[in-house]
Formats: sequence, C-alpha cells, structure tokens
Amino acid sequence: PLVTTKEMFKKAYEGGYAVGAFNVNNMEIVQAITEAAKEENAPVILQVSAGARKYANHTYLVKMVEAAVQETGLPIVLHLDHGDSFELCKSCVDGGFTSVMIDGSHLDFEDNIALAKKVADYAHDRGVVVEAELGRLAGIEDAVNVSDADAAFTDPAEVEEFVTRTGVDSLAIAIGTSHGAFKFKGEPKLRFDILEEVARRLPGFPIVLHGASSVNQADVATINANGGDMAGAQGVPEDMLRQAASMAVCKINIDSDLRLAFTAALRKHLFAHPNHFDPRQYLGDSRAAVKEAVRHKIVDVLGCNGK
Ligand code: G3H
Ligand code: 13P
Ligand code: ZN
Ligand code: NA
Repeated sequence: PLVTTKEMFKKAYEGGYAVGAFNVNNMEIVQAITEAAKEENAPVILQVSAGARKYANHTYLVKMVEAAVQETGLPIVLHLDHGDSFELCKSCVDGGFTSVMIDGSHLDFEDNIALAKKVADYAHDRGVVVEAELGRLAGIEDAVNVSDADAAFTDPAEVEEFVTRTGVDSLAIAIGTSHGAFKFKGEPKLRFDILEEVARRLPGFPIVLHGASSVNQADVATINANGGDMAGAQGVPEDMLRQAASMAVCKINIDSDLRLAFTAALRKHLFAHPNHFDPRQYLGDSRAAVKEAVRHKIVDVLGCNGK
C-alpha cells in the first residue's frame, strides 16, 4: 500500500539506519527504484518535485507509483519534495500523496513556522505527514567566509520551538550538504556537531538530510569518456552518510546520483551503438544502472535492506 513515514521513521530511528528518498521523474526511474527496494526488502520513499510534476504530470506520477505498489507489494511513501506553497502542498495532499515537504527555509523564522503549521494542520486532518526545513542548504558552498556559512547552517537553539509550534513530523536540517553534482570546492565537511545537538534537543525525532548524493566518480568518468563534461563534480562521501544514518537522520534524499547513473549508461550505450534508435535499448540500460545504484545505496550506505 501507499503509507506514511510514521512507522518507517520510528523503526529507522530505533534501528540506527535511514530510509532512502529517491526522486522520480519517469517510468524507468520508478521501476528501477522499486525493483531494487523489492529485491532488497527495503522501505522506500518516492519523491516528486514541483519540476517533476511539471515534467511528467501529477496524475501520471501518482498512477505510476500506484502501479509500483501493485507490482511489488511494498509499502511505499509518495512524498512531495520541496513544496514551496500551501497550495502546492494542498494539491498533493488532496491528490493522493502520503507525505509532503513544505520548504519555508528561505523565509524568516516566524513566517517559516506559520506556513509549516498551516500545511501540517491541513495535512494531518487528512492523514498525511509533513516535513519542514530549518536552515538553508543552497549557497553554503559559495559562502565566502565562515560567518556567511554559519548563518546558513541550522541553529540547534531553534529546533524545539519550531517543531512544537508547527507540529511537523520530520525536520530537514542544513549541516553542509547541498543539491546537485558540485557540492564541495575543497574537502567535503559536514557539521555533525549540529546534527548531534539537534538530536539531543529533539530526542526520537526524525531528521532529514537533503543534498546527500555521493556523486559516484565512476559514473562521472563514464560520462566524461563518452562525450560529457562534468569535471569537478563531487558529492558527500559515503562514510559520512553511513554516520548520519546511524544517528537521528531517518531520511536521506538522493536525486543527483540517480541522474548520473542514468546519464552514464545512456551515453555509454549510444556511443557504443551509433546505429541504435530504439529507446527501449538505451533506456533499458539506464534503468538497469539506476537500479544497481539504488541497490548500492540501500545495502551499502543506508542500511535499510531487510527492514
Ligand atoms: O532538491 C532538488 C531535487 O533534486 C529535485 O530537483 O527540482 O530539478 O526536480 P528538480
Ligand atoms: P542531491 O542533489 O544530492 O541528490 O539531493 C537531492 C535532494 O535533496 C532532493 O530533495
Ligand atoms: Zn532537497
Ligand atoms: Na538513523
């Protein structure tokens, strides 16, 4: 069935692992993720961004995820990723999602609280869970000095008030990750001290890590060797994700790594077979590559296989 994150996060918190939240944009990606989750008997969250909804259409995405539930028999969460307004969240709550994120991280504290509470009240009345964000991910890597960077990290002193006043079910925090395939200019570094302090202030409360792709260097090399140019791409080292998963982090968001696996396989296929023009051939390779990338995350990084 389609389920909420409630049970999943409780088990993940207690078990010291994290559930993967993978972005979906088309049928091949939905199939790749859910087949890997099925084979590894893993809980899984499929998340849809506003951009995905614009690209693939709300109804197509919901129906594909429902098809995955039917085909795999797995409990699957259908989550809105980075909802930017009450109206978008409402439309996903009304339209079959079991979880929504309201991302008011760019707002000031009081406005973020007011918006998150409005979404949580609406969603909870309808059995849907809500993720919110405190601190800002974007731009951290561009910060020119330490005080700029500090301003963007989540302030642990704010989390209890935020969670109590909004009633949200999980909280995304900024500890140095960022979206996309170019995360760090120098040495990767995450503020585990902030995560620890947040967990100390919110015992048992599920924390979410965005921008958590590792940017597999083998995929980057394949892309670059087959006509691409992704020089300098760098992600979060897997050891750091394993550490986060063992702590209060219950949901780890991964999109870029799936895009890289998809694109590497696609480039490789088309360069190796200049006469192929059947999408089932090259998209079949991409789907298989995404599936193996997801399996690797589940088994070797998140630790949610067999859960
Ligand atoms: O957080 C961003 C996700 O990777 C979704 O990206 O907005 O391009 O679909 P998108
Ligand atoms: P990545 O770009 O690191 O995959 O992050 C995805 C994400 O946070 C989706 O919300
Ligand atoms: Zn994100
Ligand atoms: Na965890």
